[in-house]
Amino acid sequence: MMGIKAVDIHVNYGEKKVLNNINLEVKDGQIVSIIGPNGSGKSTLLKALSRCIKPNKGSIYLDEEKLSSIPTKKIAQKMAILPQVKNVLSDITVRNLVSYGRFPHLNFGQRLNREDEDIVNWAIEKTGLMDLKYRYMANLSGGEQQRAWIAMSLAQKPEILLLDEPTTFLDISYQLEVLQLVKELNKSLNLTVIMVLHDLNQAARYSDNIFVLKQGRIWEWGKPEEILKGKLLKDVFRIDGHIYRDRVNCCPYFIPHKVN
Ligand SMILES: Nc1ncnc2c1ncn2[C@@H]1O[C@H](COP(=O)(O)OP(=O)(O)O)[C@@H](O)[C@H]1O
Ligand SMILES: [Mg+2]
Repeated sequence: MMGIKAVDIHVNYGEKKVLNNINLEVKDGQIVSIIGPNGSGKSTLLKALSRCIKPNKGSIYLDEEKLSSIPTKKIAQKMAILPQVKNVLSDITVRNLVSYGRFPHLNFGQRLNREDEDIVNWAIEKTGLMDLKYRYMANLSGGEQQRAWIAMSLAQKPEILLLDEPTTFLDISYQLEVLQLVKELNKSLNLTVIMVLHDLNQAARYSDNIFVLKQGRIWEWGKPEEILKGKLLKDVFRIDGHIYRDRVNCCPYFIPHKVN
């Protein structure tokens, strides 16, 4: 499996500087979360890491190889991204959506072969969607749709999975379901995961490392214990809160008190 490294990344949209001097390293098999207020550049960073957008300055490395010199198809075989805003696909079955994940592995005009079908089935099974395989996306709950998108990413057989707010719009049981699935895939496949999360407590619970973005810069990064502190709540999220220890899940968590 692979790691990924960003060295001194700068991204502008026109005149506007959106990412400034970003350095980030994610080692093989880690789960890393990116947190930060709205508009701090989280989605932009994920897009740069997956080469959906090209940084104005700086380089990204997949293991030791420069991302900008790897053919697009090869990148898609190594890395899958689940964007924050997805295309609305409703007149498509789960099975067909998931099969799109195989496209980076096919030659032009080639159809899915037996092995591809097996991988599609594996991804559907891994995400617990076997019973819904031939259902239309339109007729699934938010959580089931989200799992179908994750299944599509898995069918890509990536070594690195990038998820942009994978739990948004899901109720709490589906949120946990998605995060447990991510954790399980990370363990069983040694999948490297980088995800943007809104919920700081979930980031603290599921991540090896957390990167905090504030106004396009890395404010700080480290283990959940090092990051989830009063200073983070105050300086980055403008709230006061208390930090506690979750002894069941062995991670810190916080309870907010008030907005500053
Ligand atoms: N395509 C774009 N063109 C111009 N500005 C953009 C574009 N995408 C995002 N931005 C701006 O860049 C900043 C960072 O956006 P984004 O990376 O989506 O933040 P986040 O995901 O942390 O909420 C925001 O101010 C946003 O308005
Ligand atoms: Mg975003």
